[in-house]
Amino acid sequence: MNILLSGCSGAMGKMLIEVIGNDPELQIVAGYDAKPCNELDFPVYQNLSLCKEDVDVIIDFSHFLAFDGIMTYASDNKIPLVIATTGLSDEDNLRIKNASNFFPVFQTANMSLGINIMKELAQIAAAIFESGFDIEIIEKHHNKKADSPSGTALMLANGINNSLQNKKEYIYGREGRNCKRTKNEMGIHAIRGGTIAGEHSIIFAGNDEIIELKHTATSKKVFANGAVKAAKYLVQQKPGLYDMKKLIKDQI
Ligand SMILES: NC(=O)c1ccc[n+]([C@@H]2O[C@H](COP(=O)([O-])OP(=O)(O)OC[C@H]3O[C@@H](n4cnc5c(N)ncnc54)[C@H](O)[C@@H]3O)[C@@H](O)[C@H]2O)c1
Repeated sequence: MNILLSGCSGAMGKMLIEVIGNDPELQIVAGYDAKPCNELDFPVYQNLSLCKEDVDVIIDFSHFLAFDGIMTYASDNKIPLVIATTGLSDEDNLRIKNASNFFPVFQTANMSLGINIMKELAQIAAAIFESGFDIEIIEKHHNKKADSPSGTALMLANGINNSLQNKKEYIYGREGRNCKRTKNEMGIHAIRGGTIAGEHSIIFAGNDEIIELKHTATSKKVFANGAVKAAKYLVQQKPGLYDMKKLIKDQI
């Protein structure tokens, strides 16, 4: 399977190069990145209209500013596209939805199995605890992360909110002398530091008891492995929009 790796010079890009290099079914035939990288054994394009390699699937771990370039290339050539990049705009997400009518697109803010199972558990818990428990999300990431809060925190919040008829208003951090919590709030808090690969906690705080769901990614490898699994799955699919929930359902 020939892969075009978008964001190949970044931290996740390097991890993908390692994981794909150990898989005999896969090879990276081209890269896309604003930053050139000389040590790689495939060409890295800054403009994908110059890419002449045969590509079966694109894996994108780059930056929201790279989205237009990658989506234009995927749409022009109808190439299955795995999108892991976070911080995309509503307009970008609409473009993804429209594009998926013509070729398969896989999008998730978190490629790990664990987080996707945690989202399901949180949705069940939220529906049961609805009235008695306040819900807050805390996420922690490394000090180089561009977007905040994390795409995963928003994915978890949206999942919970869907189970609660979208009644929750998101409050990002709290500061001030007059910001007492209201019933309909869901607080989302971002911590940045060091090399934290990714940590997400969902806190259900009730009267005299607290339940906390917590996921820790101990290495970026979990995301790279998930993306490879997604790419192998996506090349077998018809046009449509796919995510981890669909992949897990189809493969169990
Ligand atoms: N879905 C998931 O499971 C998951 C997991 C980890 C990271 N991510 C996301 O993947 C993305 C990359 O993460 P990272 O830690 O590797 O970041 P990084 O900053 O280390 O790498 C990003 C790469 O994108 C390139 N880039 C930036 N702007 C560009 C542009 N306009 N055109 C082309 N290339 C451009 C940079 O040069 C860099 O090499 C982020 O959005 C992050 O949130 C998603």
